[in-house]
Amino acid sequence: MVLSRVLCPTLIGRDSELSTLEDALLSALRGDGGVVIVGGEAGMGKTRLVNTLASRARTLGCVVVAGGCSEAELSLPYLPFLEAIGNYLTTADAGDLGQRLGPAAGELAQLFPQLGAPSGSSTDSVQAKLRLFESILILLRDAAGHRALLVILEDLQWADPATRELLDYATRRLRSTNVLIVATYRTDEMHRKHALLPTIQGWRRSGQVELVDLRPLTPQQVASMVCAIFEERSISDEFRDFLHERSEGNPFVLEEMLRDAIDRGDVFRTETGWDRKAVAEIRIPPNVRDTILQRLERLSREDVAVLSAASVMGRSFDVESLAEVAQVDGTAVLSALEASVAAQLIEEEDRRSGGYRFRHALTREAIYEDLVAPRRQRLHSRVADVMDSRHDREPVDQANQLFMAGRNQDAVAMSIAAADSALQGRAYRDAAELLERAAPYVSDEAERARMLCRAGEAYHYNAESQSARRLLEAAIPGLEKAGFAVEGAIHRITLGRSLWELMRSDLAREQFEQARAVLEPNGPSEALANLYIRIASLSTFNADHRTAIEFARKAAKTAELAGANLPSVWSLNFLGLSEVGLGEVDAGFAHLDQSYQGALAGGYDFQVGNAVYNAIWLAVHLGRGDEVAKWKERISVMPQIGFEPWPTYASAFIALERGQIGEAIRFAQAAVQKAREGGHKKMAWRAHVLLAHALAENLRADEASNLMPPVSSRVDQQDVTYDAMPRVRCCLAAGDFAGAEREVRLVRPEGCEHGSPLDAVAEGTRDAKWLREFIAKIPAQGEVLGSPRIAAARGRLALYEGRFDDACQALSSAVDAFETGSFQLDAWHVGSALADAEFSSGQADVARNRLRRIAADAQAASALLAARVARETASR
Ligand SMILES: Nc1ncnc2c1ncn2[C@@H]1O[C@H](COP(=O)(O)OP(=O)(O)OP(=O)(O)O)[C@@H](O)[C@H]1O
Ligand SMILES: [Mg+2]
Repeated sequence: MVLSRVLCPTLIGRDSELSTLEDALLSALRGDGGVVIVGGEAGMGKTRLVNTLASRARTLGCVVVAGGCSEAELSLPYLPFLEAIGNYLTTADAGDLGQRLGPAAGELAQLFPQLGAPSGSSTDSVQAKLRLFESILILLRDAAGHRALLVILEDLQWADPATRELLDYATRRLRSTNVLIVATYRTDEMHRKHALLPTIQGWRRSGQVELVDLRPLTPQQVASMVCAIFEERSISDEFRDFLHERSEGNPFVLEEMLRDAIDRGDVFRTETGWDRKAVAEIRIPPNVRDTILQRLERLSREDVAVLSAASVMGRSFDVESLAEVAQVDGTAVLSALEASVAAQLIEEEDRRSGGYRFRHALTREAIYEDLVAPRRQRLHSRVADVMDSRHDREPVDQANQLFMAGRNQDAVAMSIAAADSALQGRAYRDAAELLERAAPYVSDEAERARMLCRAGEAYHYNAESQSARRLLEAAIPGLEKAGFAVEGAIHRITLGRSLWELMRSDLAREQFEQARAVLEPNGPSEALANLYIRIASLSTFNADHRTAIEFARKAAKTAELAGANLPSVWSLNFLGLSEVGLGEVDAGFAHLDQSYQGALAGGYDFQVGNAVYNAIWLAVHLGRGDEVAKWKERISVMPQIGFEPWPTYASAFIALERGQIGEAIRFAQAAVQKAREGGHKKMAWRAHVLLAHALAENLRADEASNLMPPVSSRVDQQDVTYDAMPRVRCCLAAGDFAGAEREVRLVRPEGCEHGSPLDAVAEGTRDAKWLREFIAKIPAQGEVLGSPRIAAARGRLALYEGRFDDACQALSSAVDAFETGSFQLDAWHVGSALADAEFSSGQADVARNRLRRIAADAQAASALLAARVARETASR
């Protein structure tokens, strides 16, 4: 009897690795899911290990789905997820599922047409991508049902960018779900510049992913494996050590070596069992590739030709296409396949009928690499032609085959088609790479520049500003030179935006001006309106409200003339912001309101959120309680899939100002989490600052100052409005008055155009002379001058200067306004200063009563800092 397949029937070793995986699965069953990554050299047993876990999972009643990445240079975005989820969808009732998924179904329809019509809501590209990611996770949670879902993703070393991003996102979002993702990758492919490497290093550092490394088998384990394969009790130490040394403990290599040894007759069957030649006589090829190729030599030339053709098609292939590619008849193909199965080179694929696959990726690689280049190219070319007649072909696969065939020109059209569908699926990076890959083969210069500009835009959608800048700067002049000035100008708007994100406002402005010079003479257009909005927002960030208002008006007008509704609605937002900056507070809020209503009616989610966020932010900083109350109701209006941090931030901010400290802490913690998960750097910074503030109010001074980002992390002029008060309160909570003095010295008067953070400055200092000069320099004007925050600052100055009646008057007007506006926290803090002034102006009883009330109310609301300040003021 001859062993037909020399494969190990049982799992050898790997106890601790398996138990790590099983623990993760049990955690997922308890609702504590996550991601585990299994790394190891090619053939080290990753697939074997995760398959073992998969069968355990099925025994436990879990749902298991699996997908793998393709080794082809270009592959479909999200490929392993598409495979895994696609398999699940074939078993699910699409109607029921659509119901359960709610709005997520519309997002998922981008990738899975069986789920209905895609929802095409106009929104910011990064948000659109996150929404898609979130929807995929919702689908996975649904698939988990009452048990758990195990998702196996194989061969991450070949993952496309979208897959890497989605998986990275999942690592942050699967806690507290019953979904476990186990992904494998080859460690020996992680060369220094491998795209997966930074992701893996990030996971290693953050610890948010469990990493399992598969090491080589020990000599003893090699012996056990040989015994299991040959059903023997033991092997000699000499043979064991020989095999261990030659295979380097790699199970795949070991199996292949043994197979080879049998084929050569170095290991053979006797009456009593297995026997072998003396170790010195056993000739084993120097590497695994050669062992595989040796086996190829034992096949007929015709069979080898068929198998070589198959290796060009990929890891899996179907008989019919193979016959066409190899240009032989069906019988010849079948006989070649039979011989190859017997030689342990390929196996039948159980999932698809008529499908076969190489026994191992390494098997395919060895055979493929043995082909001489011209033959390889011819075969790729034929595969591409055969694909033409297949209705289910993917442009990206065909592009890949055409590139490999050296038919670069033909590959261009396919690459563009593939990039278009990648963009639809929010796989921006994949799209950019496809366009960049194909562009050099386009002979028409303008067309080539156009493709590179599109690639630049795609990087911009993916918030990869550096790459966007690189491509756009290089390619825009090509478009312009060929006479496409307007197209070039539109890309310059994106380039300007990327530059702004790279904190080069100066260069951004240059780009905007260049675009303007081209677009303006052509009359109103949507692009011109958008450009004006960009200029307005750039000016707002620089606190140049006059320029901002001018361009917001131009944007509105232009949008109207061009019949472009979105910029028309959005421009009102900037109009409102700049009006408030110039002191026209009521007019500004009215425009923000109009922007909000218009965005709601138009279904512009991003602009709805933008209006609500801006309005709440302004209202709190201005001390306008009526506006806070009005806009707060709108936080919940926006359709949410649950990851946007800004509504949570706004809720935390309002709770804090209202003196609801416990709630503020909870919301701020959630905002930090969401901002991190969504990769919103700016929002994460803001949420950290807010959380630190809330903790300081709760007298958790150490925690607060540990959380507070360094002053050097301020980027926009506006940032000081976010963090000045939190920094001052952190110092006060720690009893560090000198620290507070230092903090307020870092605020500049120009930053106080909305009133805030002037109140923080006055609270943090005792230097009356300095404060007087500071207040004289603030640019606040118009209705802003009525802000209770400014009154509070003036009142404190009067107190420090010993003008107690003035102090009482200003401070009590501030306290009244804060109380009416439900800014309880401000009312308490400023109330203590008022009591201080009351003591000094001879109203001790009034002061004591006030302080007693503040201490009691603040204490009850966990506003422990405000309560302590009140008690300390009373005891002075
Ligand atoms: N612990 C083990 N016990 C028994 N057989 C094993 C073990 N590990 C691996 N094998 C066998 O070795 C061969 C290679 O293993 P596997 O396919 O799991 O490697 P891999 O790490 O997934 O390789 P690749 O990176 O190429 O995908 C398979 O035939 C597998 O069954
Ligand atoms: Mg594998």
